[in-house]
Amino acid sequence: MKTIIEPFRIKTTEPIKIISRQDRIKALANANENVFLLNAEDCSIDLLTDSGTGAMSTRQWAAMMMGDESYAGSRSWIRFEETVRQITGIRHILPTHQGRAAESILAETLVKKGDIIPNNSHFDTTRANIEYAGGTAVNLLCPEGGDAQDLSPFKGNMDIEKLKSCIAEHGKDKIPFAMITVTNNAGGGQPVSMANIRQVKQVLAQNGIPLVIDACRFAENAYFIHEREEGFQDKSLLEIAREMFSHADAATMSCKKDGLANIGGFLICNDDEWGQNFRNLLIIREGFPTYGGLAGRDLEAIAVGLMEALEIDYQVYRHATVKYVSDRLVEMGVPIVRPAGGHAVFLNAGKILENIPALQYPGIGLVNALYIEGGVRGVELGSVMFGRFDEKGNEQAAPLELVRLAFPRRVYTQSHFDYLLEVINQVWQNRQAIPGYAITYQTRYLRHFTCHFKKLAGNGFY
Ligand code: F0G
Repeated sequence: MKTIIEPFRIKTTEPIKIISRQDRIKALANANENVFLLNAEDCSIDLLTDSGTGAMSTRQWAAMMMGDESYAGSRSWIRFEETVRQITGIRHILPTHQGRAAESILAETLVKKGDIIPNNSHFDTTRANIEYAGGTAVNLLCPEGGDAQDLSPFKGNMDIEKLKSCIAEHGKDKIPFAMITVTNNAGGGQPVSMANIRQVKQVLAQNGIPLVIDACRFAENAYFIHEREEGFQDKSLLEIAREMFSHADAATMSCKKDGLANIGGFLICNDDEWGQNFRNLLIIREGFPTYGGLAGRDLEAIAVGLMEALEIDYQVYRHATVKYVSDRLVEMGVPIVRPAGGHAVFLNAGKILENIPALQYPGIGLVNALYIEGGVRGVELGSVMFGRFDEKGNEQAAPLELVRLAFPRRVYTQSHFDYLLEVINQVWQNRQAIPGYAITYQTRYLRHFTCHFKKLAGNGFY
């Protein structure tokens, strides 16, 4: 078998620079040791997120030039709506400026104080929107999803028994809807099987509870189903996506992921009353229903991007990249979440830095070490991002301490990933020297974006 090559060639380039280790240490200190507060220019390989960071295709740029900026009923809106409907089959389509705007409209319209919203794993913005509306966001991930070594093919699945007991415990009236996130970003980018989506829908339908799909990475999930689930090998990714959405009553989407766009999102639903209520809020918060929070040219880029994300050659290459990096890391003995997820490699910081206690944030230790070693920017998904406080105000550790290296779509080539592997190897060799951290400033919601850290005594990594 020959090397799987990037199924594109490069037409426009953007320079990246590598600043010295000393300058990186200075830059991190100026950023209060939080990589979210760095200047992007000081990062050589930026794997902070796969959200909005992708490269657009010639077809997308051409479509942008066709953007119709009419306030109401623009041609670009019609293209966008037709594309979203072709993929999802869902009736009401509301464009938003990004995924969390869709979540906020969903939560504000439907979630009351004391409500419970189950999900396989809530992403941080989803949780924040639900909790801001007075609800409680609960994660009902299957047990294998929490085991970084388990090689099950669909570790993003929801635990059906836990879902049934959650409904029995709280009662269906307290659950205005349940969600399922494809792929499961918070748990390693692991996919959800079609069988699981069907079962979740069945249990919910028996109780009259609607299903909302968090669809950010629906095309990557469709590819996993195509590769791993019996009966889907001969189906196109579009057909698989259509079936996934056929089980949903509504969906939230960030087009910054599988829309292959730099901005955008949508909220869709079948129920007319929901549609009406969502639209009322959309007009106040985002804009007129035919543009939402977007310019006509954005709607065009998304309409093209959503279909490109469903091209098989693109998904083959994307998954090959993630697998290339994770296979090398396994060979090097670096603990990672296995099998490889769809959009990122997740390093197991809890294992790599086992001497650092969870509440001294081993994930931050690893993220900062990767930056200092090679200008690589990743993100902690552990006790800083998902940590919680109990009723007495005691901080609770997250179940896993992970570091996500998210791969922007169509941006980096294989030599960038070889460089990344060299940096990780250096950090891995010097892991005993890496320090833990304390938080010196934090906000109530989504603290990881802006909090300040103080380095604790380490063994001289920097
Ligand atoms: N749901 C999931 C599963 C996500 O991963 C994200 C964003 C959102 C919702 C919110 O979408 O950013 O457009 O408002 N995830 C990004 C990330 C930020 O880095 O994983 P948004």
